[in-house]
Amino acid sequence: MKSIQISNPTGEPHFSGEVQISGAKNAAIPIIIAATLAQGRVTLERIPRVTDVFSTIELIREMGSDVRWENENTLVILPGIRRDAGILTRQHVRFSILALGIFFAKGIPAGIPMPGGCNIGERPIDIHLAVLQELGARIRTENGIALLEGIAKKTDEKRSIRLRLPSVGATFNAVFSCVLGVRQVTTIHNCAREPEVQDCCNFLVACGAQISGIGTGTLVVRGVETLGGCGYSIIDDRIEAATYTIAAVLCNSCLRVIYKNPPDITALTDLLTRIGATITISPAEIAIDPCSHLSCFEMNTGFYPGLATDIQPLLLPLALKIGNCRIVETIYEMRVNNIPELQKMGGDIQYTRREYLEISTRKSDLHAAEVTATDLRGGMSLVLAALGTRGTTTIRHAEEIDRGYERYEEKLQNIGVDLKILPG
Ligand code: EPU
Repeated sequence: MKSIQISNPTGEPHFSGEVQISGAKNAAIPIIIAATLAQGRVTLERIPRVTDVFSTIELIREMGSDVRWENENTLVILPGIRRDAGILTRQHVRFSILALGIFFAKGIPAGIPMPGGCNIGERPIDIHLAVLQELGARIRTENGIALLEGIAKKTDEKRSIRLRLPSVGATFNAVFSCVLGVRQVTTIHNCAREPEVQDCCNFLVACGAQISGIGTGTLVVRGVETLGGCGYSIIDDRIEAATYTIAAVLCNSCLRVIYKNPPDITALTDLLTRIGATITISPAEIAIDPCSHLSCFEMNTGFYPGLATDIQPLLLPLALKIGNCRIVETIYEMRVNNIPELQKMGGDIQYTRREYLEISTRKSDLHAAEVTATDLRGGMSLVLAALGTRGTTTIRHAEEIDRGYERYEEKLQNIGVDLKILPG
């Protein structure tokens, strides 16, 4: 178990400077998996060194690829898929489910343990399975393993599938399943449009795939015979950029968030500007300056370009500082693990489940406490809460945060935060 401690003796704004945003974890993971479809060397730049990425590397090694770090954030993959992969042994990250699309594309039967990932409510895989089945896969689930038993790739030249919901992961599986296969043209309706989906499609195009409609809800994939290797640089992590932006607003601090794609978090920056935050957006930077007053807000999470569900837990410390805020979580019905921990810090926060999860806050002066990170974004929300709180807060199980935030301790220390990693 890893623990960290954040101290703020006065409770006053206490950091300033700039933070450089890393490559996006949620783009890096599917791109590393997609690389296994290629036949030449793939060099990926700006891969964040976070534990979910390390698990993904282990996954593709087990699938049969050679992987090595060329330098701090550059990963070199010599793609390969073992024809005798059998049943993969580890649960890895949630995105291990994407191995199904890869094995399907390569026509190799395999067993994939049902995915892990954050504990944020029910995370079914029915859309993944439906997509693959529609494309001709015979899949059985047994004892927590999805067994890809038979592959009768449909031979129609033009086919069309529709996702029940624009699931990010199922969109990857649909695309992976269709990129190989000459003369096949597949139209995938109701796709996810998230920037990470766009990035992974752009990566596949760089390898020679033919995909049109990237960034829209309808992707058209023309199968090609093979994919070659390529060099590719991952987009900036929009959730990390959102995290530091919220931290600065919460602590009424001056911060420059060096981030190349501000339009990808417009739902958040619009919200913060509307409630009174001082935010200046430039092409490669978001600058936050102190403001005199913040108003209460109501907000729903949603599929892109809506407010990302991953930002919801991060907004709660701010919603507690302001009071009378209401956030409706429409993506994950039980993304609430951080709420009891925020309550330990004195947060007056409630939730109910009607059609969706509804979270409401009253103005609260948080106090330091010992709290536990129960998932990645929930864990980071406790870091944000600690930043804005007088005293010393200890966060246990901080390894959850290492799953998705690259060098966050160092980044926070560099802007003046008193953060210690506790021994043992
Ligand atoms: N869904 C189904 N059936 C499926 C798949 C999804 O009902 O077969 C539902 C989910 O239960 C959820 C909604 O569809 O209600 C959206 O889920 P989606 O499949 O889009 O999520 P995901 O692909 O499993 C990725 C990110 C999550 C992020 C979501 C939503 C990665 C590794 N994970 O998950 O990121 O919250 O998209 O944007 O990219 C995180 O980084 O902390 C994280 C949890």
